[in-house]
Amino acid sequence: MKKKENNYISIKESRKIIKYNNRQMRFYEAQKRRKKEEKDYTSLMRDENNIIEIDGLKTVFFTDNGTVMSVNGVSFDIPKSKIVGVVGESGCGKSVTSLSIMQLVQAPQGQVTEGEIRFNSDELGYDENGKKKAYDITKMPTSEMYKVRGKDITMIFQEPMTSLNPVFTIGNQLDEISFTHNTKITKEEAKARSIELLTKVGIAMPEHVYGCYPHELSGGMRQRVMIAMALIGNPKLIIADEPTTALDVTIQAQILELLKELQKEQGCSIMLITHDLGVIAEMADEVVVMYAGRVIEKGTARDIFLNPMHPYTIGLQKSKPLITSDSNKPLYSIPGQVPNPINLPNTCYFKNRCSKCKAKCDGNYPPEIKVSDTHYVSCYLYEKEVGNQND
Ligand SMILES: Nc1ncnc2c1ncn2[C@@H]1O[C@H](COP(=O)(O)OP(=O)(O)OP(=O)(O)O)[C@@H](O)[C@H]1O
Ligand code: SF4
Ligand SMILES: [Mg+2]
Repeated sequence: MKKKENNYISIKESRKIIKYNNRQMRFYEAQKRRKKEEKDYTSLMRDENNIIEIDGLKTVFFTDNGTVMSVNGVSFDIPKSKIVGVVGESGCGKSVTSLSIMQLVQAPQGQVTEGEIRFNSDELGYDENGKKKAYDITKMPTSEMYKVRGKDITMIFQEPMTSLNPVFTIGNQLDEISFTHNTKITKEEAKARSIELLTKVGIAMPEHVYGCYPHELSGGMRQRVMIAMALIGNPKLIIADEPTTALDVTIQAQILELLKELQKEQGCSIMLITHDLGVIAEMADEVVVMYAGRVIEKGTARDIFLNPMHPYTIGLQKSKPLITSDSNKPLYSIPGQVPNPINLPNTCYFKNRCSKCKAKCDGNYPPEIKVSDTHYVSCYLYEKEVGNQND
């Protein structure tokens, strides 16, 4: 919806926004309630070696100030058995992307309005042309999503204390997950599985911790419990949204090491969301750099760290403190601000902060340019270097 340049909204405009929002929210909520057959929410994988393929995802929030374009046409893949790191500054849409994968975007204000999230499920098999079938999570009914969420796709949040229920024991909460996904399992079997997982995530005296309440554990132990919870259904994808920012540096290193070990052992994929480029360098096989709701660069960890191309990625790397940095000099910071997500320009979103702007940058948003088989960047600086373009 069009809005005046300044931030002032008149009563008339405000009424218009509310009316528009109500109409939109009713429309998207009605779509969700519609009775669907399997063909309405299934699709085909582009590459069956991916566990998730996100294609042109748009997730918006209908707020009283206007429509917030939190995720604005995001596309990237999460290959099987790989760690994909997602970086970008605060508010660029990392968490909303992950919540869209889990179908946990705060409705009715938050809605996925466009795009596909294809989940490579073993349940669906192949179509008549030998293409792997996939669930399209953006269209899946909630009743079907229950079968996937918390089992095949799980999530580890930043602050374990807010994710664990304070009035139930750790054992209760772990067993509950086993019961949800396997109604035939006995109490004893669920307990044995919970204790097995507590042992696996490196908790000493797992039988004792099984009977503890969350407040009796340290932050590091609680995060280990969260990892155990995420692993209980043998997931194919774990989404870890800033899993270590609430922990001190030594515990952070231990938790990351544990995650990496378990990922290798279980063969699952991890989508690792963080602000910390150091964590990404240590952990990720592939990296997605987001800015203002868009992917501006993606590639393997080597591509992004050895050959960063987008001026924002280059700026991010420059702002990282190094052991060799001159301690008398202030750290580099990228000047300027991210554009308002309600009033995004049609041009490159980084334009007002970019020192490498050229005439073309006044035009439309730059297309995604393929630099190599693994490396993609959305920036006009590289348009001539390669002929092959996407978008
Ligand atoms: N419930 C909501 N209502 C309105 N806007 C929201 C809501 N949740 C998120 N947003 C907006 O969506 C955008 C993306 O938010 P998101 O939480 O995904 O950012 P992020 O990249 O995870 O940031 P951070 O690194 O701080 O966690 C932000 O502009 C935010 O203000
Ligand atoms: S497209 Fe232009 S303004 Fe945008 S990052 Fe590239 S050079 Fe800078
Ligand atoms: Mg976040």
